[in-house]
Amino acid sequence: NVNLKNKDLLSLMDYSTEEILSLIEDAMDLKAKHQNGDIISPLKGKTLGMIFEKSSTRTRVSFEAGMMQLGGNALYLNGKDLQLGRGETVADTAKVLSQFIDVIMIRTFEHEKVVELAKHADIPVINGLTDDFHPCQALADLLTIYEHKKTFQKLKVSYIGDGNNVAHSLMIACAKVGIDFTIACPKGYEPKEFVVKYATEVAKENHSTITVTESPIEAAKDADVLYADVWTSMGQEEESANRLKVFAPYQINEELVKYAKDDYLFLHCLPAHREEEVTAAIIDGPNSVVFQQAGNRMHVQKALLQAIL
Ligand code: CP
Ligand code: NVA
Repeated sequence: NVNLKNKDLLSLMDYSTEEILSLIEDAMDLKAKHQNGDIISPLKGKTLGMIFEKSSTRTRVSFEAGMMQLGGNALYLNGKDLQLGRGETVADTAKVLSQFIDVIMIRTFEHEKVVELAKHADIPVINGLTDDFHPCQALADLLTIYEHKKTFQKLKVSYIGDGNNVAHSLMIACAKVGIDFTIACPKGYEPKEFVVKYATEVAKENHSTITVTESPIEAAKDADVLYADVWTSMGQEEESANRLKVFAPYQINEELVKYAKDDYLFLHCLPAHREEEVTAAIIDGPNSVVFQQAGNRMHVQKALLQAIL
């Protein structure tokens, strides 16, 4: 088994293929135990602090419930209520929290803030979403894909929409496990160059490919998985009217899914906007596994917490 003790999860770039596969395996084991009603308490006496500077339903509840199920405790720390919100430095916050708790999860805007927190904390730090990455989501996405397809080999996963945090992490996750990944996005909304470059190199080592295209049809063609996220992420609210126009041709709907394989899976990190990035017919239809995907957040995060603690 791989050793992840005290390791941060800032982005999946820091995790090897072996480490990611081991987390997925542990998550399946923990999920089976949970469904079986087994009570386990490996994290008895441990506390997770969760700093939120953006809204959350899934991340907050899955981390909190998951930590409790492992016998530990979780604290919800609203960024505005912390002295951090009144200008205490990230470094001092990291050093102080390290005196009390065993692991920090943070959801914020600039990725650099999470890097800074991890640099100064004596305890592991987990990225619960930044403007650039959402690694816990991508781990849950991999688990969901694996549960349905029973393999990561010879799969085409296509993300259609904004080249954002969720797209970045999914791209890296696919590259790490050898899935062919395609992203279709409008000009000006492509994933960041350094992420595409990194993922392309990793994919090559794992005999898979990364494709960036403007064409949703090219992405949808023969896809095993179609993936959508919101067109306007948290922090971009003032761009939303313009984004609605720019992204309109990138909606996942009945027409577009005709290009995918018959047994394609529809994934969405949620929250979703029906009739924007995806029609109700698709997200509420037979190929959609979005609620299983949401549920898997808890199982992968339990595996992660157990491994790093
Ligand atoms: N997918 C996800 O991270 O959801 P929340 O914003 O509700 O945490
Ligand atoms: N890209 C979205 C994901 C929400 C889970 C956002 O950052 O708001």
